[in-house]
Amino acid sequence: MIESMEPVAAKRRQLLCGMCALGLGAPALGQTPASNDPAASSPPQVGDFLTNAFGDKAGQPITVDELAVDQKQIFAFAQDPVSGLVRNGSRMHQLVLIRLDPATLTPGTLARSANGVVAYSGMCSHTGCDVTDWNADIMRFQCPCHESQFDPRDGARVVGGPAPWQLAALPLKEVDGKLAVAAPFEGRLGFQQPGLSPFGI
Ligand code: FES
Repeated sequence: MIESMEPVAAKRRQLLCGMCALGLGAPALGQTPASNDPAASSPPQVGDFLTNAFGDKAGQPITVDELAVDQKQIFAFAQDPVSGLVRNGSRMHQLVLIRLDPATLTPGTLARSANGVVAYSGMCSHTGCDVTDWNADIMRFQCPCHESQFDPRDGARVVGGPAPWQLAALPLKEVDGKLAVAAPFEGRLGFQQPGLSPFGI
């Protein structure tokens, strides 16, 4: 069973995908506008907390306990623990979070996890759509645009579809029950626009 966000939001995201090459600096859909502070567009920093990106809990810190094991990914942003600034100024730094059984993670993924919670860039490496869907039958992230699939238990490696590389991984730690950034992104951010040079880092 594939779990998707509600259709209107998904269509808006897919439309946005076509503008990805121009829209990396824009805040994600559903977000309040990003601050003009350049730090809002910087990548997650070590020690940042993670906050909910959408819904009633947007902007609130995410705790390990609020995430049920093996449930659909949620979207998040890093937040400066001192100033409270949410780093939502770039879609490239939007995150997907999921809590999994630690016993099912590959060693490298386990090392980056916090109590089974793993975090990845939420931007598909194909043409930059948000990776919003979850295939619960096979426990994989799925991109709604061209159905690329990523295995969150194995570094979000590509296991289906046209995505050219795995999602960048963000090492996590737990601080007083809250999720925080343990190290910078590992792997390649950005996406491959077909027929063009790679866009991103
Ligand atoms: S943008 Fe994700 S599969 Fe094409």
